[in-house]
Parts: sequence; structure tokens; C-alpha cells
Amino acid sequence: MTAFPIQVERTRTLKDKPDIHTLGFGQVFTDHMFVMDYTEGEGWHSARIMPYQPITLDPSAMVFHYGQTVFEGMKAYVTATNEVLLFRPERNFQRLNHSNDRMCIPTINEAHALVALKELVQLDREWIPTAPGTSLYIRPFIIATEPYLGVAASKNYQFIIIMSPVGSYYKEGLNPVKILVEKQYVRAAKGGTGEAKTGGNYASSLKAAELASKEGYAQTLWLDSIENKYIEEVGSMNIFFKINGTVITPALNGSILPGITRDSILHMLHSQNIPVEERRISVDEVVEAYENGTLEEAFGTGTAAVISPIGEFKYGEQQILVNNNEIGLLTQSLYDKLTGIQNGTIEDTFDWTVII
Ligand code: COI
Repeated sequence: MTAFPIQVERTRTLKDKPDIHTLGFGQVFTDHMFVMDYTEGEGWHSARIMPYQPITLDPSAMVFHYGQTVFEGMKAYVTATNEVLLFRPERNFQRLNHSNDRMCIPTINEAHALVALKELVQLDREWIPTAPGTSLYIRPFIIATEPYLGVAASKNYQFIIIMSPVGSYYKEGLNPVKILVEKQYVRAAKGGTGEAKTGGNYASSLKAAELASKEGYAQTLWLDSIENKYIEEVGSMNIFFKINGTVITPALNGSILPGITRDSILHMLHSQNIPVEERRISVDEVVEAYENGTLEEAFGTGTAAVISPIGEFKYGEQQILVNNNEIGLLTQSLYDKLTGIQNGTIEDTFDWTVII
């Protein structure tokens, strides 16, 4: 690998760390951040780690107007023997580059990004919380910074990595969440940006999420944009059902986010010889399974959400209760195994973790 010089400016005033027993999600940030600039003709340059601070952008910076931006979510953990682990970070940088391609953002050197991330995490390693269910959430993102109001791809960008010690994403923790099946709005259309991790996908989900929240639901379940009948994903997670002993998750179809936790769960299920199907699944099929008593478990997966049991769906007037609103045996065992691999208490036979 070519040398990748990173200039480091350490903060003079270390911030107080939060109480790790009352951590929420994404509210406090560590002492440092990584920043790198892209300029047309020059490429990516000026890699630096600096004190966490506000950034200055021109009000005409293109990210503000046309949403040319991508992001990732990943986590770092500290083991009982004080090693720092990342979980499949190279997959996140690979996915970031896929999102870059879709959003006409220049790709980054994935190996350099990993070098930068390791150095940043090492510098702020005291921020990695150790209480059960906690971790250091890492948010790499890229924004279009060129000051220009024409609709075109920006000529300049900034790649930034910030980090935040987190507890569970949902206030429910590992208790099952309630999900509203969205009938009016869609998250992503065929040929759209659903597969990319870009801000607009999340901005356009807010209206439905707000309505669902008013009715007491944690998130919305999105259906396909053409027939409004096939299940795609939940607000911030991919989704799995266990029906009659088989685990089913919607096949990636271009409008579903290719989750890294989703992929990890599929590998874990295959390795345990549990029947798995990646295919189209309609909401009617789930209703039918509920009615004939074969809907055994449902759960969401994501970096932020980890594995989140689902206890209830609402689809119009139809209420679908899952496993008596309790976490299922398979969901619990997948959660225990995945988090065990992530925090180093279970042997990583998949070779997923990267030691810093
Ligand atoms: C993640 O799971 O890391 C995500 O990026 C979801 C996010 C919108 C909270």
C-alpha cells in the first residue's frame, strides 16, 4: 500500500466522558475527528485528525441544496483483555464506495480509509464504552462542498469520520418493538437510490416515521413502490421473519439497503444449517402465517439497531402479534452470538473482526 500520511492535531482539552450506564444513541461525540478534502484535479488530499469541532461551509455548498452526500455506520468494541475490535470495517468502506458511485461522488481509497479509522479509534479508545449493549458508533460521511447552485456533481468534497459512544438505538433496548406497515408513502423506487446509503433516503422517510411514532410505533415497515405489497425494509434496519422453521428475508432488489449485519446474520444462519430464504415476501404472506400460527419470530438487523426483536406489526386494521410480544429463541441466540463475536467473548470463526 502507498504511504498515507495523516496529520494529527490533538485536542488540548479532553472532554468529560458520559455515564456509560445511561447512554442513548448518537448524542455525544469523542474528542477527535478525521477529515480529508477532495478537489477536482488534485483528488483526495490533506488527511488529518483534529479536535472534534464544527465545520465551516459556504451556504451555497451543494450538499445543502441537492443532498449529494453518503454515509456509513460501523462500531468499535473493547474486549475483556483490552483489545479494540472493529466489525467488518472493510465492508463498510466498500459499501461507501458503492454509494459514492450512485451519488457521483469520487471513490475513496478503502485501505487508506481503514488506516485513518484505526488511527482515530486508537486516539479516542478511552471513549469506547464497556457496559453490556454499548459500543463506539462510527459515522464516516462525505459531503459535496463546492459553492454552486447549478444541478451537477460537485467538484469538491469533504470526507469526515466522527464517533459517538452509544447504548441501544431503540428506547425499548432488547424488548420487542412495534412496527407500522406503511401504506401511503414509499421509501425507494425501482431505479432510485434505495440501495445507496444517502441522506435523502432517510429525509424522505421522516414523514411516515413521524405519523407512526404518533400512533406509538417505533418505526415503519416499507413496502415496494410498484405493487405496494412486497416487504422491503424497516426505517433503520433490514428485516427477517421466521415462518414455520424457515428464516425469510427480502432479497436485495436494488431498492433495499445491503446491510452488513443482514449479511452477517445470513452467514450465521447458513453455518447453523437453519433453512434460509432470500426472496420476495409479501405482507399478505406474513398476515397469513400469523393467522395460521406459523409466524414464529420477526427481527430487524442493522449496525445501530444490532438485532432488534419485533413484537407487533400493524397493517391497516390488521394487527399481527409475534411470539406473544416476547423475544424469540432464535432472535436471542443470534443476538448473543453476533454481539459475542463483536465484543470478543465468542470465537470469531468467520474472520470478521479486525484488531486495532
Ligand atoms: C446504521 O445502522 O448504522 C445506520 O446507519 C442506520 C442509521 C440511520 C441510524
